[in-house]
Amino acid sequence: MKSFHIITFGCQMNEHDSERMTGILEARGYSSASRAGDADMVILNTCSIREKAEQKFFSELGRLKELKTARPDIKIAVAGCIAQQEGANILSRAPYVDMVFGPSDIARLSDMIDIRLSQSLPLIDTAGDPQYHLKRLPTSRTDRIKAWVSIMYGCDNFCSYCVVPYLRGRERSRLPKDIVNEVRELAQKGYKEVTLLGQNVNSYGKGLEEGSDFPMLLRLINDIPDIERIRFVTSHPRDLSHELIAAIRDLPKVCEALHLPVQSGSDKILNAMNRQYTREEYLNKVTELRRAVPEIALTTDIIVGFPGEMEQDFEMTMKLLEEVRYDNIFAFKYSKRPGTAALKLSGHVQDQVKEKRLTQVLALQKTITGENNKKYAGTIMEVLIDGYSKKGGKLAGRTRGNKVVNVDAPDTLIGSLVHVNITAAGVNSLSGMICE
Ligand code: 5AD
Ligand code: SF4
Repeated sequence: MKSFHIITFGCQMNEHDSERMTGILEARGYSSASRAGDADMVILNTCSIREKAEQKFFSELGRLKELKTARPDIKIAVAGCIAQQEGANILSRAPYVDMVFGPSDIARLSDMIDIRLSQSLPLIDTAGDPQYHLKRLPTSRTDRIKAWVSIMYGCDNFCSYCVVPYLRGRERSRLPKDIVNEVRELAQKGYKEVTLLGQNVNSYGKGLEEGSDFPMLLRLINDIPDIERIRFVTSHPRDLSHELIAAIRDLPKVCEALHLPVQSGSDKILNAMNRQYTREEYLNKVTELRRAVPEIALTTDIIVGFPGEMEQDFEMTMKLLEEVRYDNIFAFKYSKRPGTAALKLSGHVQDQVKEKRLTQVLALQKTITGENNKKYAGTIMEVLIDGYSKKGGKLAGRTRGNKVVNVDAPDTLIGSLVHVNITAAGVNSLSGMICE
């Protein structure tokens, strides 16, 4: 029996794509090997969102050269976003690669392997499959309690820093009935939580029949018995509608947690980023959201050092963080990406300045998160226990607001919803005791 090993870089879409590749390979009779050195086939599922992600992949690929030299029969495949971006260029850097294919080519993985095994030349296929979003692929999930469900692929937004629309193509939504069937099957298998995935879930339904929009999809999934929690990523602030806010408020299974990437607090920068909202419009949406769902946990993405970002623009971002008081943020230094509009902008910021600004936003947010978390001490929170704590010795789970909670409890509670009396609240996690 042949074996495979997948190394995944990047976002949840990539993690989920790896689950699908695993499903296809297992259906083909391959078994999963825990180390690249033990496998007959190694797949690198790559990310190209920032230069750093790309560098990480190329150094991993460099390490695999030794393996290929020692065992020339091993097959090395490059999948995902860098594969889509670089295509045949990967072979000029690493001629020992056997296969290169993009994110929308995964459905043909088994056929591609057959072709590669029947010829001596490497196989490059990044053509994509226009019907990909209509296909149901075997999926071998890594978790037994929480599942990712793709609801759409691609992105139409063209934020000026972002490479994704060039790599994952235009927006294509899966059919509501296919999504509902998948979630029903997950519920039957005992899954308790689903996270709906898409680059911009708020615009779900473009190109589908009238009335197929994201709030409608949430209502359909909310009606599926035994699913306890529904989450979704990612939302574009421009498309956060009154209807979606009402759906978060009214649908009991939709968790009170929203990732709403703002990127910058300066209108000048938001405009240069082609984000299509102003600081004020964003803040108005946050106000409306909090009025409707007071306990909502808000998280965001920030880019520091975008071309043209002056000290006063950066200050606007810092002020925005103080005003919104997010539960958490993900912050990144602007990174030049091939083919994107921002490359051509003037005023590129020195790395030293980016680094300083990154340290500043992270420090500010750490204080805010610590202060925010304190308010949970002494309260009782609903927690879905999903495994063991990072430090060991305890179980861990998440609140509806997606905060990590560590508890002393027996293993039999993994997969259960429990109520926890929160006794301590740190920056990274809460801890407490299960209520009798
Ligand atoms: N440089 C830095 N950060 C980026 N992101 C996307 N593209 C870039 C880039 N070129 C960040 C954005 C996005 C998150 C997924 O990654 O903040 O929301
Ligand atoms: Fe995910 Fe974007 Fe990275 Fe591709 S480039 S793996 S879509 S984060």
